[in-house]
Amino acid sequence: MLAMNYRGPQRVRIDHKPMPEILHPEDAIVRVTRSCICGSDLHLYNGNVPDTRVGSTFGHEFIGVVEEVGADVHMIKVGDQVIVPFNIACGKCVFCKQGLYGNCHESNPEATAVGGIFGYSHTAGGYDGGQAEYVRVPYANVGPTVIPDWMHPDDAVLLTDVVPTGYQAAEMGGIQPGDTVVVFGAGPVGIMAARCAWLFGAARVIVFDHVDYRLEFVRNYAHCEAYNFKEIDDPVVFVKRTTDWLGADVCIDAVGAEAAGSAMQTITGRKLLLQAGSATALHWAINSVKKGGIVSIVGVYGPTGNLIPIGNVVNKGITIRANQASVKRLLPRLIEHIKNGILDPKAMITHRVPLEEVSEAYHIFSAKLDNCIKPVLIPPSAKL
Ligand SMILES: NC(=O)c1ccc[n+]([C@@H]2O[C@H](COP(=O)([O-])OP(=O)(O)OC[C@H]3O[C@@H](n4cnc5c(N)ncnc54)[C@H](O)[C@@H]3O)[C@@H](O)[C@H]2O)c1
Ligand SMILES: [Zn+2]
Ligand SMILES: [Zn+2]
Repeated sequence: MLAMNYRGPQRVRIDHKPMPEILHPEDAIVRVTRSCICGSDLHLYNGNVPDTRVGSTFGHEFIGVVEEVGADVHMIKVGDQVIVPFNIACGKCVFCKQGLYGNCHESNPEATAVGGIFGYSHTAGGYDGGQAEYVRVPYANVGPTVIPDWMHPDDAVLLTDVVPTGYQAAEMGGIQPGDTVVVFGAGPVGIMAARCAWLFGAARVIVFDHVDYRLEFVRNYAHCEAYNFKEIDDPVVFVKRTTDWLGADVCIDAVGAEAAGSAMQTITGRKLLLQAGSATALHWAINSVKKGGIVSIVGVYGPTGNLIPIGNVVNKGITIRANQASVKRLLPRLIEHIKNGILDPKAMITHRVPLEEVSEAYHIFSAKLDNCIKPVLIPPSAKL
């Protein structure tokens, strides 16, 4: 089968790989009909995630058709079209039972913090991902969810990650009616977070990025204010000035470890690797939120950050909430929101690229060319 193959930083290509096989009675094999490239894949692509092995296949956002099931799979059957959440979750451990499907204790033998994630390095379990024609889906009674007949496949594929992540970013912010919410990052996740902030009662939503076409997109799509931080002296002072010098009620970090905007953070976090990524957006979020406010982090970071104003967190009494999105927990509500027209995720898909051109797709998304918001890869076998 064809699959994306990681060769080293900024080098990915399409290759032939062996077909995945059922390795456990609860596995399924899914023929991929669409898979997306995510901002999280860029951390892998840029070589910033430890133990990303040459030869691995990325892709944690995919939908497809069930081709084969193991003897103990009874929740899905061959021929079903399924949404496959990016988290691999056992459904039975103490964390899955609390709805913390992103923190499953069983699916990632390599670490105790994050659960297994498709196509996300050996630090997330070493599972091959869905930027391929076929993929092995473990714990197939838990994650895969049948796509309703009425749902557009482009909406379905965005339910594997971006929509739940944006929604959970807003949810973790504990937004109260009337709140001012600031979102750092106008990538797909930040765009969705800004859109979802209104669902929780925000009265004002402000987004920062430095890519103008993304700011333009989020302004229209999420009906919010959007500013280029490179055109502003200091985004923290900007937020304070516009909130009677109190600060925002809620700040959302939808950027993560590869943030731009501070030479010091970039040098220590991305060049010298003295801390696990550049924490610029997190820094701004902590300093922009009001005393007693909430910072919600969905941007992905490595374990250790040095240049984080932790004293300000303590002295301002800030609550920090963060996690990988718990996709399965949120799917029923988000499917309803799409059905009722409250959310329209597919509008974010700007590029459809044959899987064979995966290398070009990574380049366009990573370099933010051609007004790219979200690319979707279509494997040649998608139409079988
Ligand atoms: N927690 C989760 O479950 C989860 C799920 C999906 C993605 N993520 C993470 O969310 C983040 C965003 O994902 P995405 O797909 O939208 O990525 P993306 O790379 O498309 O978007 C990130 C955006 O942040 C902007 N940016 C850079 N520095 C900034 C700064 N200092 N302030 C404001 N904006 C800045 C970039 O220009 C870009 O538009 C990534 O870190 C990704 O790994 C987390
Ligand atoms: Zn993703
Ligand atoms: Zn579990």
